[in-house]
Amino acid sequence: MPIGLTNNNPKIAIEIAIFDRKLKLYMRAPALVPFILLSVITIGNACQAQKRSASKNPLLQTIQTDFEDGAKQYKVLKALTPADSFPKTYYPKTGKSESSKSGWWCSGFYPGTLLYLYEQTHDTALYNEAVRKLSVLQKEQFNKGTHDLGFMMYCSFGNANRIKPSAEYKEILLNSAKSLSTRFNPTVGCIKSWDSKNPSDFLVIIDNMMNLELLFEETKATGDSSYYKIAVTHANTTMNNHFRPDFSSYHVLNYDMNTGAVKEKKTAQGFANESAWARGQAWGLYGYTVCYRETKDVRYLQQAQHIAEFILKHPNLPADKIPYWDFNAPDIPNALRDASAAAVMAAALIELSQYTKSKDAKEYRDVAETIIKNLSAPGYKAAIGTNGGFILQHGVGHKPANSEEDVPLTYGDYYFIEACKRYKELVK
Ligand code: GLY
Repeated sequence: MPIGLTNNNPKIAIEIAIFDRKLKLYMRAPALVPFILLSVITIGNACQAQKRSASKNPLLQTIQTDFEDGAKQYKVLKALTPADSFPKTYYPKTGKSESSKSGWWCSGFYPGTLLYLYEQTHDTALYNEAVRKLSVLQKEQFNKGTHDLGFMMYCSFGNANRIKPSAEYKEILLNSAKSLSTRFNPTVGCIKSWDSKNPSDFLVIIDNMMNLELLFEETKATGDSSYYKIAVTHANTTMNNHFRPDFSSYHVLNYDMNTGAVKEKKTAQGFANESAWARGQAWGLYGYTVCYRETKDVRYLQQAQHIAEFILKHPNLPADKIPYWDFNAPDIPNALRDASAAAVMAAALIELSQYTKSKDAKEYRDVAETIIKNLSAPGYKAAIGTNGGFILQHGVGHKPANSEEDVPLTYGDYYFIEACKRYKELVK
């Protein structure tokens, strides 16, 4: 299903021509294997010193305990979740668990976390539960009413296919990428996030950067460059419009769908239109790190590094590196922390540290270590049997709507376990 990218916007047309050339290189990646191997050997030698000290690294033992405790907690979570539903959150004050149907944007995180935990513990009960939930989730491959298919389908079926590749999973992932691509508008140069009452509105949120990984993967899986082109066009439009001069990002941009002009820059889940909503900054950091991994376009690396600098140098980032839910929350230092934003940041910083040559690489790794260490401690990690079976406490979903305040969140758990896995792979 090649998706036409011809459009009237000359800036986007030029970018697409450049991508076409880059894409040839991308698709010829196997021919570059000898050169890549040489680089890997060189980098590998440099990593040896780090690996040699791994046996002395107490954080690795902490992470192993996190995996084992996570596996136990997710059995509690399974028991509290109806068979046709997906965990959403738990309210500690009332002891009430909340679940969702498969169309909710978070439905992929529970099976995704189960699969990560299965890989680390080899507990087949976790794998079997993940597979059961995948069978409930799979119909969303045809859902064209959401931009969240990357979160929903790649965190779940992407991991399932990585662990045990299958033709069925591959087809589900491809159909998901096709469904997501239907939301791309070449005049705007973005995938639409949310619908609006005004038919000329075209709303794009920074979170949407997280859905691009699915598209990159599908170009690699099929050789169809359409998905890659949509991903880089979305990333470039977002890079041009969503960021302030200090590299913090707005949450929501409203484009005119007929001209591509920016009509509004505002927030939905942050404190104010001009504030820096913590999870939004984390999504941008993670998203541009993925874009660099998949394209090797240095502009994406620099963007991710600039976002990292905004976060890490921010005077309101606490010493324990678990951000307040918004960097400009009015009640800092009494504002709620958001463990989910911290988890996303840690996972992203570990990857970004591997692409960064300057001394900043060490800072990224150090901050990720601090986050993992603090999320693994009782203040954030729940005791087994508590917290409705979720691993982490103290996430913030949608504060301005008074929704999911200071509660566990499925994506907090998913990116925490991902950060632990990435850290283990980095140092072991
Ligand atoms: N809209 C996704 C999030 O809450 O981060």
